Amino acid sequence: MSRFRAEPSERIAGRLRVPGDKSISHRALMLGAIASGATRVEGFLEGEDCLATLRAVGHLGVRVQRPGPGEVVIDGVGLHGLRGPDGVLDMGNAGTAMRLFMGLLSAQRFDSELVGDESLMRRPMERAAKPLREMGADIETREGRPPVRIRGGRTLHGIRYEMPVASAQVKSAVLLAGLYADGETTVVEPAVTRDHTERMLQAFGVEVVARGGIATLRPPAQLQATRVSVPGDFSSAAFFIVAACIGAHEPVVIEGVGVNPTRTGLLEMLSLMGADLRLIHHRSAGAEPVADIEVRPAALRGIRVPERLVPLAIDEFPAFFIAAACAEGETLVTGAEELRVKETDRIAAMAHGLDAVGVVNEVLPDGLRIQGGPIRGGFVDSRGDHRVAMSFAVASLKATHPIEIDDVANVATSFPGFAGLARSAGLRLSERP
Ligand code: S3P
Repeated sequence: MSRFRAEPSERIAGRLRVPGDKSISHRALMLGAIASGATRVEGFLEGEDCLATLRAVGHLGVRVQRPGPGEVVIDGVGLHGLRGPDGVLDMGNAGTAMRLFMGLLSAQRFDSELVGDESLMRRPMERAAKPLREMGADIETREGRPPVRIRGGRTLHGIRYEMPVASAQVKSAVLLAGLYADGETTVVEPAVTRDHTERMLQAFGVEVVARGGIATLRPPAQLQATRVSVPGDFSSAAFFIVAACIGAHEPVVIEGVGVNPTRTGLLEMLSLMGADLRLIHHRSAGAEPVADIEVRPAALRGIRVPERLVPLAIDEFPAFFIAAACAEGETLVTGAEELRVKETDRIAAMAHGLDAVGVVNEVLPDGLRIQGGPIRGGFVDSRGDHRVAMSFAVASLKATHPIEIDDVANVATSFPGFAGLARSAGLRLSERP
């Protein structure tokens, strides 16, 4: 089990670039696979999660070439051209891959079975299976969890689905199934979630109308292959945004980051705490807005996080909890019970880690109360969760003693090269097998 050792370091500086967006990379592979013609992707995230999707697409009979770093060319087989896989499809640690494939595979003529690693095999899949069954799919889970067995050859019907939980993965699974349905499919969200699927479907020529948390898709005759330029992953940039907020003595710039407003709730949360953040050099990468993010030194104070921001920052809470630990006063997060069903229970894992490094906190059923104060250092078990591991590496910027972080191999699922980039920015981070 590999481990990080993060020695206290006092400053972070420089101009940084983070790897490509995970959510967009998964979607580019899946839509490219069922498009007509060759889709060229640049800035693809070569992390374990997206490589699991890439392998799965290959097992479904799609040729995918990787001509250079971050470049992928997918020879789309058309909406009805996927082939039944020889064995089970292994999604590794990737919940996004599993749930989106559930939607896509529900509509195929062949049977399939989806499995994953130990963490993924414990995660809830009924949230996606239920609306897909309403559409006519034949899906079986084991007590709500993987393996997920999908029987092919079903005719799917368009539905209007009011989602009980705000989940972009469930929304996307339904929309992908909707590509094959015999009428319009509408998904109504209880709160707006990331809209990469809707944007990318439009880029592939599909008629999708999305506004105010309601997305309606009309089944297309085909998807037209396109070029996808993947921006830097905001969720990876988040670690350096927080690092700069707590440890910068001069401006830090993170370049070329996707700033889709359905992803950037963290910026608003940190601004409410007093952070000095600016988006500069606005541009776009296809359907997605991109900017450089500049962070200037500023003192942080505790806040009560508005619940409306929770779905817009759902993956950033581990990093945000570290910012809260470094702020003056108390920070309160509620309405975030979804954190309990991520790669690990992130409320429990972060609270445990904060305890281990001496930060006073109180666990709530749907969040965490954190008292800002000194970070001592200590031993943290990341519980195999990439974002927990990276968050405590960032905490070393304010620690009085080293922080040892156990079980960090999964950092490679979303952020290959994290340790090297962190060192180049000033963190004193070493990796041990
Ligand atoms: C994702 C949606 C979110 C997020 C995950 C990626 C996506 O999950 O946490 O990391 O790409 O659609 P939920 O849909 O479970 O909120």
